[in-house]
Amino acid sequence: MAYLLGIDIGTSGTKTLLVDTRGRIKASVTVEYPSYAPRPAWSEQAPEDWWKATVGSIRLALAKGKVKGSHVTGIGLSGQMHGSVFLDKSGVVLRRAILWNDQRTGAECDEITRRAGGRRKLISMVSNPALTGFTAPKILWVRKHQPRLYQRAAKILLPKDYVRYRLTGEFATEVSDASGTLLLDVKRRRWSKKLLGLLKIDPDLLPAVYESQEVSGCLTPAAARATGLAAGTPVVGGAGDQAAGAVGNGIVRRGVISATLGTSGVVFAHADTVQTDPKGRVHTFCHAVAGKWHVMGVVLAAGGSLQWFRNTLCQDLVKQAKRKKVDPYELITAAAAKVPPGSHGLYFLPYLTGERTPHADPNARAAWIGLSNMHTRAHMARAVMEGATYAMRDCLQIISGLGVPVREIRVAGGGAKSAFWRGLQADIYRKAVWTVSSEEGPAYGVALLAGVGTGVWKSVPEACDATIRTLKVSRPNRKTVRLYDQLYPEYGRLYRSLKDDFARIAALQ
Ligand code: XUL
Repeated sequence: MAYLLGIDIGTSGTKTLLVDTRGRIKASVTVEYPSYAPRPAWSEQAPEDWWKATVGSIRLALAKGKVKGSHVTGIGLSGQMHGSVFLDKSGVVLRRAILWNDQRTGAECDEITRRAGGRRKLISMVSNPALTGFTAPKILWVRKHQPRLYQRAAKILLPKDYVRYRLTGEFATEVSDASGTLLLDVKRRRWSKKLLGLLKIDPDLLPAVYESQEVSGCLTPAAARATGLAAGTPVVGGAGDQAAGAVGNGIVRRGVISATLGTSGVVFAHADTVQTDPKGRVHTFCHAVAGKWHVMGVVLAAGGSLQWFRNTLCQDLVKQAKRKKVDPYELITAAAAKVPPGSHGLYFLPYLTGERTPHADPNARAAWIGLSNMHTRAHMARAVMEGATYAMRDCLQIISGLGVPVREIRVAGGGAKSAFWRGLQADIYRKAVWTVSSEEGPAYGVALLAGVGTGVWKSVPEACDATIRTLKVSRPNRKTVRLYDQLYPEYGRLYRSLKDDFARIAALQ
């Protein structure tokens, strides 16, 4: 039997998934690593940790699945998007990578927009506005603040593409992840010479761009020795974690949308043509399906808001859950479920780390609004879940406003595990939501891409049809839908009223 490996270089760890050529999972192993925050709102990781976690998780997955390394016939890579790895001419890492959730580049985003001739012109070149998490502003930041280091840089890679370099010796990326650098002409699926020229970034610093299912290189003898795999094993382009996760959920046709509630929340829609939001509120990136695109809205702290609530205000429930051997989220959602929809007038804005969609505002902050003496912690929990779900509805509304049809919504991530949160999503999105059979997200998606690139399946949609099914459905309750329809517009107004206060508070820090 032949096997495929899907490797996801995530923010908390690297997950390696061993899958057979019928899409059945043989082993899943995650090896974690630390993040560093040398200053508030900075976020960095050591690329060497990714490599060690990749090697470790491949070896463990082979052992767990009792599969010989030589039986792996294709590898797909996925990873956290937008990070920047600077290498010198010998391939040595010059500094820790700056990650997707780092907020240091506000000034560089302004500079990029100015050099491009304004926001509209920038969007017309690369289909997206400059956002602090993206790669291009990080490049400008390093050039400005670490000029000597920048002069030594010979290549700049995305996180998963650094691991590709260690596996294959090739400097390569693929269209979906490259879209999040802000340097790709998303429409034409190649680097934007025009923007690179305006920003004075040498195109030689960037790797070659492939489609996601294309073979980008083969395992070197040294990487084969390190991992226990066979030299020459093909490594396909793979995808950024969002496009990879979408493939893993079967979001590869018009009309099928996913709503993923992990730490961040992402609403992801396949598009047959480039759909750009002139206001730049959602991202327009190349999809991992050859010649297709996607639009996606990103809520920075969706599940992350509930995680923060659990960590800061529910330590007693965490202890109780440990005694009862249940997940603390079960206790929190059970309490929230007893509170009526709308949380008796309590709202939560989930902007703990600023927001991307729809506000693109790094200064926005979280808040409960409407607290009264009758509210309890259970109300606060429900309001957090409602607030995060309203934020997802913001994304959904913008996407359908672009003319992208929303026929079926598939839910994924931690939020999809809770029947209560699935029901809440159905009520707030006003549509039925479905769970899917594959729960392994991006790693599964790139294992499928590896299968397409090595001839197991003819195309990405064919691979998804062969391996992914919808399972449970939650349908909206008409009465609750009507109530949320009345409450949701006020949620939007609250941010607008507080926007200037957030900016003033940020200026005081
Ligand atoms: C996507 C994004 C995150 C990161 C980390 O735009 O920023 O999904 O890729 O997971």
